[in-house]
Amino acid sequence: MAEPRTHRLVIAEVIEETADARSLVFEGTPQLPYEPGQFLTFKLPGTQGQPVTARCYSLASSPHTGEPMKVTVKRVPGGHGSNWLCDHAVPGAELEVLPPAGTFTPPGLDTDLLLVAGGSGITPVMSILKSVLTRGRARLVLLYANRSESAVIFRDELRELTEDYPDRLQVVHWLETLQGLPATDRLATELAPYAGRVAYLCGPKPLMDAAEVALRGLGATRERLHRERFFSLSGAAFGAPAAVDSSAVGSSGAGSSGAGSSGSAPDEPGSTARVELDGATHEITWPSGTPLLDALLAAGVDAPYSCREGACAACTCRVLEGEVKMTRNEVLDDVDLADGYILACQSLPLTPRVGITYS
Ligand code: FES
Repeated sequence: MAEPRTHRLVIAEVIEETADARSLVFEGTPQLPYEPGQFLTFKLPGTQGQPVTARCYSLASSPHTGEPMKVTVKRVPGGHGSNWLCDHAVPGAELEVLPPAGTFTPPGLDTDLLLVAGGSGITPVMSILKSVLTRGRARLVLLYANRSESAVIFRDELRELTEDYPDRLQVVHWLETLQGLPATDRLATELAPYAGRVAYLCGPKPLMDAAEVALRGLGATRERLHRERFFSLSGAAFGAPAAVDSSAVGSSGAGSSGAGSSGSAPDEPGSTARVELDGATHEITWPSGTPLLDALLAAGVDAPYSCREGACAACTCRVLEGEVKMTRNEVLDDVDLADGYILACQSLPLTPRVGITYS
C-alpha cells in the first residue's frame, strides 16, 4: 500500500507581518515543487478529542523567484490552526505537511490578470503576482481590501513591486475605515476597466461574493472567475487510507483485464475500474462503498492525492465510461462536473464498469 506522502519542513524564520499575521519561512529554496497560488496542508494538534487536525495555508512565496517557501497565517477568533501556529511556530521547529496542492493557479504567466484579495487572502495572490512579474510578461491589477492600513499584509513589498514594475503592476488599496465596506456597486465601478481579464479572488466570502457579482454584472464569464476556498479538515489526510479488502483488489498493466474478485457485500456488487495514469492502464476491482482513491492505493497504484477530504482537487481525474457519485465536493464547479471531472478520494462506483483517466 502506498504510504501517505508527508514531508517535514523546518521553520527558518518567523516574520511579524502585522499585529495578527505571521509569515513562516522554511529552510531551503524551495524544498517542494509547487505552482503559484497553491497551498500546503499542515498536520496540527487536534481538537475535541481528535488526535490530529489538518489546516491549509497558501504559499505566499513564488516558485520563480528563488526565495524559500513561505506561508502567512493570520489569527482569527476561535481559529484553532492559525492561533496554534501563531503561538507555537518558532525558528527550528519542524512541521509535517502534505505536498503543495490546489487549483488556484494561473494558466500561464503572460495573461493579463485582475487580482482581488482581502486580508490574509493576499497570500496566494502574492505568489501569483510575484511569479507573473518575475517570469511572465502580463500586466496585473490588484484590488486589496483591508480593515485599516495597519492590517495590510506585505504593504512594503507591494509598494516596492509597484516601483519596480510601474507599467505592469497597479495596486488599489481599499481600506474599510476610510472607504466603507467594498459593496458590489462600488466594486463594479473600480473593476469595470478590467472586467474582461481573467480574475483571481481570494479573501472573506462577502468580498469574493461582491466581487463576483460585480464582475458577472460587467459581463465576466464564469470560466474567467477563479475563487480560492478553504475548509477545515479533520486530519484524515495524514492517516493511512481506509482499509480495503486486498483480496478484492487487483491491478495490472496496460491492456490486461485481470481484475481481482469482488469483496463487496452480495447485494452491493463492486465495479471494475479501468484507470489511465502516467501512461499506464490499470484494471482494478473497485468495491462499492470504497472511494476510488483508496481502491487504487490498496492495489499499489501511485495515484495523486493530498487532503483526502474533497477539498483540494489534488486527486482530480475524469470519467470516460460509466458513472460515479461523489460524497463530498468542495472544489469542482458545475463546468468541471459537466466535463466529467471527479475527485477520486470522494468517488464511489455506480455502474459495473467505470473508465477513468488522470490525463
Ligand atoms: Fe483533496 Fe481528493 S485528495 S480532494
